[in-house]
Amino acid sequence: MPLTSRTLKDGHPEIAALRNKAKDPGTILLNHSIHMQPIRRGPNGPLVQMECADCHRPEAVTASWPYADPNYVNAKVTYESKEVLLPVKSGTLQPRHAIGRAYMAPVKFSAACAACHLLTFDKRFDIGVPHDKPDVVHAFVVKKFQEYIAAHPAEARVVRDPQRDLTGRPLPPEVRVLTPAQWVAERTADAEELLWRKTCKQCHALSAVKGASLPRVADARLTERWMPHTRFDHDAHRGFSCMGCHPGALTSKESSDVLLPPLANCKTCHAPGPDHAESRCFECHTYHDWSKRKEVKPTYLFPGLQTGGK
Ligand code: HEC
Ligand code: HEC
Ligand code: HEC
Ligand code: HEC
Ligand code: HEC
Ligand code: HEC
Repeated sequence: MPLTSRTLKDGHPEIAALRNKAKDPGTILLNHSIHMQPIRRGPNGPLVQMECADCHRPEAVTASWPYADPNYVNAKVTYESKEVLLPVKSGTLQPRHAIGRAYMAPVKFSAACAACHLLTFDKRFDIGVPHDKPDVVHAFVVKKFQEYIAAHPAEARVVRDPQRDLTGRPLPPEVRVLTPAQWVAERTADAEELLWRKTCKQCHALSAVKGASLPRVADARLTERWMPHTRFDHDAHRGFSCMGCHPGALTSKESSDVLLPPLANCKTCHAPGPDHAESRCFECHTYHDWSKRKEVKPTYLFPGLQTGGK
């Protein structure tokens, strides 16, 4: 019997990532569960209820992001995050620009986190550090303190902070007069202690680099496509709730959790019969002969792309 007349039924294999009990290889820490409950917008902000689409949208959607910070959105960065294509060799799938509505774009700090997670580094400045590699952050911090001490030379006379008495370390003299360079070096060391050990570390794995004073931020490794053996299109399922297919996202506490729906979920709608969505093989598989599977041109695969829209 030709595959085109067969339908999805028992015996169909489970999604490979679930069958293999894959872990999400991403390194960005995110606890979905606490972000899906009422949560504070910034340290002193009001409580807000986030939605999935506040962090996840297909590339082609251009509506504004409620938790973006324009300073970060408009900033150029020196890093290039490479997404993971699981578990196929790269180069066998269409590039993301060709699949603008089908898949969710990788989450970005500037668009989805920046309004709440401030990268401030010192009480003298409202502005946060750039969201970039540690060497860029370091250069920024040093420059800010150099400008500051040039404008406020009196602050080079440093009075001992009474709270320091609790550390058990030898006390510095009551009053020290520093050169501007010494002052900048001390302030930078304090600011970076906070950044590397707390601020950046909340979301990233940082590691020390031998012989270097600055740490390295682990590659983000966000996954772009989870099902290399099938096509999927979020746009075709726009009318359905995200939670219907990704219920795990409400309770997941670890980034390593895989939040994909099991194949049984697809079968609730893609089943034979008039009240159901298409269940013959071609609906999800673009090749007819399993021994000669190949990708089909995106223009054919994703007609939704050609209609434009928002
Ligand atoms: C609230 C979470 C959060 C915080 C805090 C945060 N980041 Fe990120 N970071 C992200 C996300 C999400 C990405 C994914 C890509 C992007 O946003 O461009 C990322 C990506 C990066 C990358 C690129 C990684 C790659 O794949 O090459 C670097 C470098 C980076 N961040 C540095 C920093 C530094 C340095 C700090 C602290 C000053 C910091 N981040 C603080 C969430 C965060
Ligand atoms: C609406 C504001 C808001 C947004 C947007 C937001 N966060 Fe958070 N996030 C918070 C607050 C508030 C906390 C502290 C919650 C607590 O400790 O109870 C937090 C805590 C965290 C933690 C620590 C969780 C833990 O288990 O202790 C991580 C990691 C984190 N956020 C990552 C992110 C990333 C990554 C993004 C963007 C993709 C993001 N957050 C976007 C408000 C936000
Ligand atoms: C009909 C089921 C279904 C619905 C509804 C659905 N998803 Fe998905 N989602 C999937 C499947 C299947 C994948 C895996 C696609 C792949 O990567 O091959 C996926 C993947 C994802 C990913 C990982 C990136 C990607 O695109 O592969 C994110 C993030 C995501 N969905 C978020 C959402 C959000 C947010 C919503 C609601 C706006 C939503 N999903 C609605 C089934 C669904
Ligand atoms: C509603 C969508 C849908 C329909 C209809 C469907 N499949 Fe699938 N199929 C999937 C998904 C999702 C996967 C998992 C893909 C992955 O893990 O990359 C899959 C995987 C497979 C795999 C395993 C591929 C591999 O190497 O892991 C085979 C074989 C397969 N399908 C055959 C069929 C046949 C034959 C039909 C028709 C009787 C069919 N499928 C109909 C969605 C569908
Ligand atoms: C605060 C931002 C934020 C919100 C809100 C959010 N997510 Fe995510 N989501 C992320 C980040 C960051 C990642 C990548 C890290 C990870 O895998 O946990 C991710 C990963 C995912 C993935 C793919 C990774 C996997 O392991 O399967 C899916 C699917 C997903 N989210 C679905 C959802 C759904 C559905 C909702 C709403 C119920 C939601 N997310 C709400 C930030 C968010
Ligand atoms: C809540 C019902 C529902 C669920 C669950 C569902 N689908 Fe669908 N799906 C539809 C409808 C409705 C359509 C569009 C009409 C049709 O094709 O019959 C569709 C269309 C599709 C298409 C064709 C998209 C296009 O561009 O034409 C694919 C591929 C697909 N679904 C795959 C899946 C996979 C894989 C799953 C499981 C992860 C899934 N669907 C779960 C209802 C559902």
